[in-house]
Amino acid sequence: MLTAKDFIPAAYSQTIESGEYQWSAPSNIALVKYWGKKDNQIPANPSVSFTLSNCKTITKLAFAKKENKDSLSFDLLFEGQPKEDFKPKIQKFLERIEVYLPFLKEYHFTIDTQNTFPHSSGIASSASGMAALAMNFISLEKALNPAMTDAYFYQKASLLARLGSGSACRSVKGQVVVWGKQANIEGSTDLYGVEFPNEIHANFKNYQDTILLVDKGEKQVSSTVGHDLMHNHPYASSRFAQAHENLDALKAIFKSGDLDAFIKIVESEALTLHAMMMTSMPYFILMKPNTLQIINTIWKFRNETQIPVCFTLDAGANVHVLYPENVTEKVLQFIKDELVGYCQNGQYICDEIGNGAILL
Ligand code: PMV
Repeated sequence: MLTAKDFIPAAYSQTIESGEYQWSAPSNIALVKYWGKKDNQIPANPSVSFTLSNCKTITKLAFAKKENKDSLSFDLLFEGQPKEDFKPKIQKFLERIEVYLPFLKEYHFTIDTQNTFPHSSGIASSASGMAALAMNFISLEKALNPAMTDAYFYQKASLLARLGSGSACRSVKGQVVVWGKQANIEGSTDLYGVEFPNEIHANFKNYQDTILLVDKGEKQVSSTVGHDLMHNHPYASSRFAQAHENLDALKAIFKSGDLDAFIKIVESEALTLHAMMMTSMPYFILMKPNTLQIINTIWKFRNETQIPVCFTLDAGANVHVLYPENVTEKVLQFIKDELVGYCQNGQYICDEIGNGAILL
């Protein structure tokens, strides 16, 4: 098993003056949630997610050697325009990953980034954004060290993404990604996300995620603060143990294709995530009245039709509606008939399980 030290490179065989790359990376939706961390973005419990397909960030990284090698230097553009308020987060990210990418101070970088989803939709862009940026940096490192293996390339890309935003490490690969050490999942590690290595039933092929935009407002609580509140949280240790149990259960469910069991784990995880927020000190509620309306309407519809549709939540008010591909038509009709009214400006985004980052 690799340790963090294995990702600190030896001297490079090549030199490169300038160039550019462009990568897209998707968002992901956790089924077992990551909430709580230790130092260096090490998760307090393992998590598993579906990689998405349509909700993604596209980032171009241009680089050119510079004279002064004493400090980090970069320009940041969002949709082609300078974006000063994103810079501190990127600065911090670069400082964190410099030990793994010792060439960073040798170049001036121009980072140009855009999302395929609306800017203030309440869909977190940190997972896709940090993953897309990490892919670009690992491409540059691969050019400096062409002997790098494909396995190392993706492991290190995910490790770098993790240091930007924990959940970003699950956006490098598809379609089901595990992050965090879990005893009976081979290759799983706290350092980076890995593709779920075991059998996955055909029921989960092209699984659908329709994201209902309930509230596009700024989050009241950043995920950094939320993770911190799991220190000294009265339910922390049982929550972390439960995540291991739920991941174990999901491993069997992925194999059997048991959608009823899948729904129970996924909805319970979403509500547990929010329960942790409601029972921290300070406490907070990120769900809105319409979040609850949607959940109740989904439950009623599922009871009446036996269609295996369920919900999950991020650290926000939006609802991810998850369902297998073969009921897409019926569920979309249900969403249009009964759920759109609870969405801000009637907005929702149709997405599905996808394959991870792509070099453009
Ligand atoms: O990656 P972060 O630090 O923004 O944490 C996100 C955590 C959740 O989205 C709430 C859950 C998860 O596992 O993605």
